[in-house]
Amino acid sequence: MRKIIIAGNWKMHKNQAESLEFVQAFKSEIENRDEVREIVLCVPFTSLTVMSKNLHGSKIRLGAQNIHWADQGAYTGEISGSMLTEIGVNYAIVGHSERRQYFGETDETVNLRLKAAQKYGITPILCVGETKAQRDAQETENVIINQLKQDLVDVDQSNLVIAYEPIWAIGTGDTCESQEANRVIGVIRQQLDNQDVPIQYGGSVKPNNIDEIMAQSEIDGVLVGGASLEASSFARIVNYQ
Ligand code: 13P
Repeated sequence: MRKIIIAGNWKMHKNQAESLEFVQAFKSEIENRDEVREIVLCVPFTSLTVMSKNLHGSKIRLGAQNIHWADQGAYTGEISGSMLTEIGVNYAIVGHSERRQYFGETDETVNLRLKAAQKYGITPILCVGETKAQRDAQETENVIINQLKQDLVDVDQSNLVIAYEPIWAIGTGDTCESQEANRVIGVIRQQLDNQDVPIQYGGSVKPNNIDEIMAQSEIDGVLVGGASLEASSFARIVNYQ
């Protein structure tokens, strides 16, 4: 059985006070269901400690938005696996398209970060996806297969989550059609050795499209940006029908 994982990616939003305010409202809105739905909040580094304290004893897991490959060293502005596990971080997003686009992440550094997360027992959420130009040129499958090939070298597929995030669907309100997301996620699954790796969809997931997205057979969860910033909207997504 593949795990269902609903994750919020706050990106560079919310200071500590705002993070705390969210958690207090959000906790009371999560419905208790028999079926297991893992809920993850990937927050800015500065909010990790306060979140860790306030999520203790709840079923919400904590995620970071990046992780460096070295244990420590002269890497200004970076965070290591041991710094994250000390705070109780369970997940780390790796290779988000915004990291690749604005901060020069390559498939090579993505691969190093994935392995570092696993070394510390953190589950990496690897993001892959194509640009609009690549999709228009019918290159979607090739681009993604290539990313996976390079990103997953020597990566343990028993402690891994993948998120299919078409870049043109991120923050645009232009969601990938759920059947199409389902199809691409099926292609991703074919590239994997372990068929139990949960594969999420990400890109303009909202309360009004979550039910349709989660009804797709290949989609094991979502990675949510904008709609995870407000407690009631993210709660509606977590409580999908
Ligand atoms: P939006 O949900 O705001 O489109 O962001 C998606 C995303 O990038 C999640 O990692």
